[in-house]
Amino acid sequence: MPSPTSPRACGAACAQERRPAVATSTAEPNPLRDLSPEQLKAHVAGALTRARDRSVVLTDAVDDDDLTKQHSKLMSPLVWDLAHIGSQEELWLVRDVGGREPLRPDIDDLYDAFQHPRADRPSLPLLGPAEARAYVREVRDKALDVLDAAPLHGRRLTENAFAFGMITQHEQQHDETMLATHQLRRGDPVLHAPPPPAAPRRLPREVVVPGGPFRMGTSAEPWALDNERPAHEVDVAGFAIDTTPVTCGDYLAFIDAGGYHERRWWSEDGWDYRNAHDITAPLFWRRENGQWWRRRFGVVEPVPEDEPVVHVSYHEARAYAAWAGRRLPTEAEWEKAARHDPATGVTRRFPWGDDEPTAAHANLGQRHLRPAPAGAYPAGASPLGVHQLIGDVWEWTSTDFAGYPGFTAFPYREYSEVFFGPEYKVLRGGSFGTDAAAIRGTFRNWDYPIRRQIFAGFRCARDLRPGESG
Ligand SMILES: [Fe+2]
Repeated sequence: MPSPTSPRACGAACAQERRPAVATSTAEPNPLRDLSPEQLKAHVAGALTRARDRSVVLTDAVDDDDLTKQHSKLMSPLVWDLAHIGSQEELWLVRDVGGREPLRPDIDDLYDAFQHPRADRPSLPLLGPAEARAYVREVRDKALDVLDAAPLHGRRLTENAFAFGMITQHEQQHDETMLATHQLRRGDPVLHAPPPPAAPRRLPREVVVPGGPFRMGTSAEPWALDNERPAHEVDVAGFAIDTTPVTCGDYLAFIDAGGYHERRWWSEDGWDYRNAHDITAPLFWRRENGQWWRRRFGVVEPVPEDEPVVHVSYHEARAYAAWAGRRLPTEAEWEKAARHDPATGVTRRFPWGDDEPTAAHANLGQRHLRPAPAGAYPAGASPLGVHQLIGDVWEWTSTDFAGYPGFTAFPYREYSEVFFGPEYKVLRGGSFGTDAAAIRGTFRNWDYPIRRQIFAGFRCARDLRPGESG
């Protein structure tokens, strides 16, 4: 799954000055630090089981034909994702951590994402549904054996059970990818979930975040991936940021004002992209009889004006922001808004503090199969009152994906480093399809600026005006 960062010089938006990594790891909380080895292993087993339960829901929801066919050239057949989840678990936990014999060395190549682009995967001699299910079960049994026996110290790969955390996140990331495949699939609804909570009250439009340094990234979060490391101080000038992500109602005003047809709001690449694909609304929207409708997991329903807009590309987000007289936040601005408490100077794990996300904090884990109305999670707000930074929709930032100062690839270059560069934009915060195990205030996702099938929306920011405090 693509993920992020960079100090790109982009005019007034990048008033940041990046400083060397700072030795703040002792001040950062490590949520696993006080667990006994037995408690840590129980925590890992629980996380692996939760991921597998979700994978089973997503793959048992459809018949074998739907599991093996390709629903979009952008996605793999669901049965490829399933066996790939098992293949990665076998490589890292069974073979590397456990030192055990390979189960299926003959299929390594088929499930290597770097060997075969998604569009080509249906033509590979893949495991069938029954075979794939049996394979992932066998791998899981062996991985749990390894967990029982492995000492979770003495080696960086197993310190704080990192390899198990990496594999848990990998499965959860593919569960979100599989959810995106479900959204692209045509046919009757097969996934069901209750609606998200309502929003208790209207919120102010924006919040001013005061200027000054904060600690970005992490050196202590035990399951953080290489691109989130190390912690380093970043000086961010004062800025204003939207209290919630941009809603469908906000976005409809852009459409109604002719935003998709006015060159001046678009970057050159964005305008070319919009024209090449004749894009005039978010993916899955259509207008009929004077009403906007959207298709969501097989259900066609009126576009809900109070929900964050989702399925828009970076180019569309940027054009909307220009039309609104604003801009997208940089990645550093987003993280400062999400983690920094200006009253104490402390950088926290999440907007609400250091505690793991609960159902009261954020719309995560495919609990509700849609974003929640803007303002629906008051308990998840930051100290300054910025809402829904975690969950609901991934948020596009204006920042290109790059390594932090002091970055070192771990455990392999292909996890992040090979994606560093201007082709990818950073997204933050996770969506309703992201599990709590695969998101935190430091987590960085990345993707091409044209992508729309992912559960991505955005919020806007702006520079402070002369005399405005910050
Ligand atoms: Fe993968």
